[in-house]
Order: sequence, then C-alpha cells, then structure tokens
Amino acid sequence: MQTIFFASCCVNGDNQARMKMEAEFLGKTFDDFLFRPQCGAVRSRKQVDLNSRLSRELNISLPVVSANMDSVTGAAMAKTLALEGGVGMIHRGMTIAEQAKEVSQVKRSYGYIVEKPLCLPRTATLHEARLFTRQHNITGILIEETPGSYRLAGLLSNRDMPWSDGQEDRKVEELMTPVDRLATGSPDISTSEAERILFEKRIEKLPLIDKDRTIRGLITKKDLILSRQRPYSSKDKKGRLLVGAAIGARGDFLDRAAQLIQAGVDILVIDIAHGHSEVMAEAVKAFRNRFSDAELIAGNVGTAEGALFLKELGVDGIKVGIGPGRGCRTRLETGCGIPQLQAVREVWCAIGDDIPIISDGGIKNDKDLFLAIACGASSVMLGGMLSGTDEAPGHIIIDPVTGQKKKLYRGMTSPEAVLEALYDAEDSQGLEELLSTPAEGQEMQVPYKGSVVDVLRRIRGHLASAVSYAGGKALCDVRTRIVHDPLRYLIPLSESSYRESYER
Ligand code: XMP
Repeated sequence: MQTIFFASCCVNGDNQARMKMEAEFLGKTFDDFLFRPQCGAVRSRKQVDLNSRLSRELNISLPVVSANMDSVTGAAMAKTLALEGGVGMIHRGMTIAEQAKEVSQVKRSYGYIVEKPLCLPRTATLHEARLFTRQHNITGILIEETPGSYRLAGLLSNRDMPWSDGQEDRKVEELMTPVDRLATGSPDISTSEAERILFEKRIEKLPLIDKDRTIRGLITKKDLILSRQRPYSSKDKKGRLLVGAAIGARGDFLDRAAQLIQAGVDILVIDIAHGHSEVMAEAVKAFRNRFSDAELIAGNVGTAEGALFLKELGVDGIKVGIGPGRGCRTRLETGCGIPQLQAVREVWCAIGDDIPIISDGGIKNDKDLFLAIACGASSVMLGGMLSGTDEAPGHIIIDPVTGQKKKLYRGMTSPEAVLEALYDAEDSQGLEELLSTPAEGQEMQVPYKGSVVDVLRRIRGHLASAVSYAGGKALCDVRTRIVHDPLRYLIPLSESSYRESYER
C-alpha cells in the first residue's frame, strides 16, 4: 500500500507513526467508493446500535449534528434533533440574548425534573399569565406568593384559564388551584413514585417543594412519558435535551460563550472558515483561560496539520470540511479546499481516535454518512440535508408557476446571510469584518420536506442497514474494525461502476 507523508508535521516521533494517509484517498470523496458487503450479523436493522462519540465527553445515539446555519438550526431543529438522538448547533447570526434564549428553550423543553420552573406571583393578571405561557411555550405556571419569593402558592394550568371575554384583569390567585389542594412531591422523589402520584391523581404536573414550600423543581407527565418512549434521545445527566451552539472567534465571543453556558448549553463550537489560523489559536486559548471545563468543538480544518494544530490547543472535537458544503462557494472563489473523504481520512490518520472528528459538509446521500464514519469521522454535520424541513428556520415559499413548496437554504457567508447579520452585529469589529469579506456562500431554494423527523428516521434506517452490510451489530464496532484499514473494505470506482452505482 502506498502512503502519503506530511513532511511539515513529522517533527516529533510520536506523530510520525500516525502521519500517513493511504494514497488511494488523495483527491477522493464519497462517490468514489463502494463498501464491500460482509457476512451479516443482525436479524433486523432495528437491533443495530448507532451510538457514537460527539466530543471527548459527550456521546449521541444518532451520529448527526445539525449545522450552525441560520437556515438550519434554531431551537426547534435542536430540540427535535436531540429527541431523535442527534444534536443541534444553534447558529450565532443573532444577538447574544436571542441565542441564549434559544438554548434555554431547548434545555427547558424536556427533563426528568425542570429544575427552576418559571413562576408568576399570585397578584399577576390573567392577561399576564396568558402572555407568559405563550412567550415561554408552557402549558401551566407555578404561582409564587410574592414576586421572587419562590414559595409555592398554587398552580395555574391551561384548564384554569377562562376563555370568555372580560376576565383578563382577574388575578391568577382567584383561578389557580391553591397549594393546599395540590399534589406535591419532595425534592428527592423517585421517578417511579412521581409516576405513581401523577397517575393516581390523574394530573399532568407535580411541583417539588421542601418543608417551607420553597419550589425545588417540577415533574411533568409529558416528560416522563417521553423518556420511556424515546430512550435514545440525547440527554444530559438531569434528563434535559442536549444542545450545542456556535460562537465566533473574535469580538464578543467570550461574552457570548458565558451567556450560553449560563443558559445551559452542553457544547460550544468555535466555527470559522479557516480554523487552522492564528485567529483560532488566540480564540481557543482565551476560551480555555476563562472556561477550562466547557466542552469545545473547533473548526473547520481539512488537513492533518490543521487537526494537529487544534489538538495541541486542547479542543474536545474537531470539525472537518473546507468547501464541500452545498451553500458554499469557497472552492469556486478561492481554488482552496480538500475533497471531503480525503479530509476526513487525512485528519483521522493524524489524530486517530484521540479527539472525535465531525465531518462537516458535502453529505448528499445517506450512504455518505456511513463512508465518512467508516473512514474516521465519529459524526457528521448536516446543512442542506436538514434544510427545507418544518424545523428549519424560515417560511415556506410557494412557487407561483409550479405551485411547489420551497424553503430557503443559504451559506452563512452568502450576501443575504451577511446582510441580515449586519443588523444584528453587536460589536464594531464583527461589523467591519462582515463588511470586508466578499461572499463565499450562496442562497438557494430547496424543496419543502415536511418534518425533519422523517429525514432523521430515514437516515437512521439507512445507517443501520449499512452497519448490517458491514457485518456488525453496532456502528462503533464496525467503525473500529474498518477505520484502521478501510482499503480492505472499499472498492474504488471506475467511471462505469460509478455510473452503475450512483446514476439513476
Ligand atoms: P451541507 O453540504 O451539509 O454543508 O449543506 C453544511 C456546511 O457548509 C458550511 N458552510 C459554508 N461554507 N461558505 C462556506 O464556504 C458559506 O457561506 C457556508 N455556510 C455554511 C458549514 O461548514 C456547514 O456546516
């Protein structure tokens, strides 16, 4: 087997052993190979385990990460993705406060226990309560004695809110179920005990209080049912959904990080087009100085040298991809980039499994996910494939000629995305940078696809099928077998075998 050496990195002996990539991957990407089927080991693809690493500390049960793009990931996408076992990276094309709110919306949406439930005082009006439920997307409100006291006075549920006119000024204390008639639990209640009370009393919400009625949490029936129905959801230790978010590398990025962490974000991504750069080194060092324990992905890089550079900086995940993205024009405008499968392979050959690799961009078909993972990635970041769905931000457009439904998908450096970000830029440095960067992305209309859940379930099915063809029961076992010598399993395609395989 021929191997390629990266001379600039063969400085210390430790790296030298790893710094080789098989020559067959040079200039290659997903459509250049087929996987050679192995003897199958599962009876049904439902048995296949798709668990994978996202970063040093976090695992996900579907190795899909949604791109931090303003036409792909806001709270709705991140929430659905986590429920389906992946994770969403909320984009940063909005103010810090707005982004922190999106993060906390995901963190609050589910959990074994809502730790700090939202409250209104008993003197609030029905009108205020209605606004509050709409603003926070909740169905019931805990009522406290006085503003900020956090002493439980009662519970106001949707059913307690009259719908007839002329009642908007009534105080919630007249409408709520008062605490002496409420079922409550102690802060250390077990899940099974909470389930028993909720069922016996036929109620939806169980406030947790201590002896002096101080509110210590809230358990909801909806969350308990969900955790039974979807054991594969991506959750933190408290049962809340996992969520990530992007920060920049300059200007107010540390303040942004601080507020996102405060809002409960599980992982941050410092995401710039050219991650193998001084800007990145300064950003990661400053980040680590201030947030030594926070889980951090950095990118993008596409070379062995770039990956080693990020590894030295001490990041927890490496995002790989220079120019393969659907909304991306970097290669066209600059002539720079690395074919995506080569990039993944090159990076894995440099860093092995020390730090999980996220293959970012260029995934057009479900089979690309499997090839990226078999060659070294631990997960994939998807933009175009998740765009056009209900959960992606933006409205449905109806084509006036064909009547087809569409949504917009755009690169984050497309003129349209940059223009919008100008209105939101909070720091003059960010503003200057945006103005001085020519577009390396484009906007396009993509067909409307309905719920992203269908897309994710299709991906799950195809990935499970690929694992079965690869002769395994679990994605990570199959990957471990293949990743050290993928050429034993991959067949390079001739032009005619390419046509036979992928042209329909
Ligand atoms: P896919 O192919 O999944 O790619 O749509 C998503 C990834 O594309 C990258 N991205 C860009 N790259 N200019 C670029 O060069 C852009 O304007 C741009 N916007 C997004 C990004 O890495 C994303 O995850």
